[in-house]
Amino acid sequence: MTDAPDPQAAIDAQREKHAHERDERVYEHSAGDEQPGIPFVGAGPGHPRLLTVAGKEALEGADLVVHAGSLVNSELLDAYCDDAELVNSVGKDLEELVPLMRDAHEDGRAVVRLHSGDPAIYGAAIEQMDALEHEGVPTYLVPGVTSAFAASATLRTQLTLNETANHVAFTRPQGRTLDAEDDHIAEFVGMGDVTTCVYLGTHAVADTMDRLLAAGAPPDTPVTVVYHASWPDEDVIEGTIADVGEKVDDAGYRASAMVVIGDAAAGASYERSYLYGGWANRGETESESTSDD
Ligand SMILES: C[S@@+](CC[C@H](N)C(=O)[O-])C[C@H]1O[C@@H](n2cnc3c(N)ncnc32)[C@H](O)[C@@H]1O
Repeated sequence: MTDAPDPQAAIDAQREKHAHERDERVYEHSAGDEQPGIPFVGAGPGHPRLLTVAGKEALEGADLVVHAGSLVNSELLDAYCDDAELVNSVGKDLEELVPLMRDAHEDGRAVVRLHSGDPAIYGAAIEQMDALEHEGVPTYLVPGVTSAFAASATLRTQLTLNETANHVAFTRPQGRTLDAEDDHIAEFVGMGDVTTCVYLGTHAVADTMDRLLAAGAPPDTPVTVVYHASWPDEDVIEGTIADVGEKVDDAGYRASAMVVIGDAAAGASYERSYLYGGWANRGETESESTSDD
């Protein structure tokens, strides 16, 4: 077993490397390919059926799964992890996690790092990957369904809706991990045609709404909170910027919630898109199309 690494030095070195050269694997592999090394897998929002095929295969072959604790549904671990050793990453720092994964990998064990949702959204995967790569352990990403997408499916809507919501913001409020000046929720809401998906714990909903009101956001702006999207105890709380905080507090929930701000959550107002209108007859080719199916 090698000594504990210095993750900060490793991250600094990797960042410097990324600034000067593109990793060759970017051109050699696509997302979804099985690759050498430790996969950083997005577990999806919770429901075991919302794990990708690539993620499921990685878990089924794993000897060690380091997972994101209560953000990952234990039903998913039960369903796919067979006899793998399970380690909860919550409360462990990089100094502990990196040698744990490195040593297991060097001992020939199949290691999977399991993040909630998609690791690319508020996942902090890159710093672990950089620290491991610096130690000579290859890593790669397996995407997952981010909780905003689970919420939109639960709500039977789209996050973009023609003429109603032309943009989507994935964001979080100020707090432990974000300085007040970097909290842009009021600006996104103020744009009017943005669906703002706020990643936050239920305890922060009321404060976030109060700040929006103080910033001058229209109190009657629709807000839908999807608690534990895709979990067995999923709940949907509907309201406005003025009253949804109190409703969430009254519900007494203490776990994950996706807060969707804007008209798209209701799916009640939109214009028919061009896609199934006369577009095909206007001579536009598929490659020019910017509308999804
Ligand atoms: C650290 S972030 C991780 C986000 C994750 N990588 C993703 O793509 O969904 C945790 C936040 O994600 C949101 N979240 C995660 N799972 C959720 C779920 N099943 N339902 C609603 N929100 C969820 C909550 O806002 C929670 O506070």
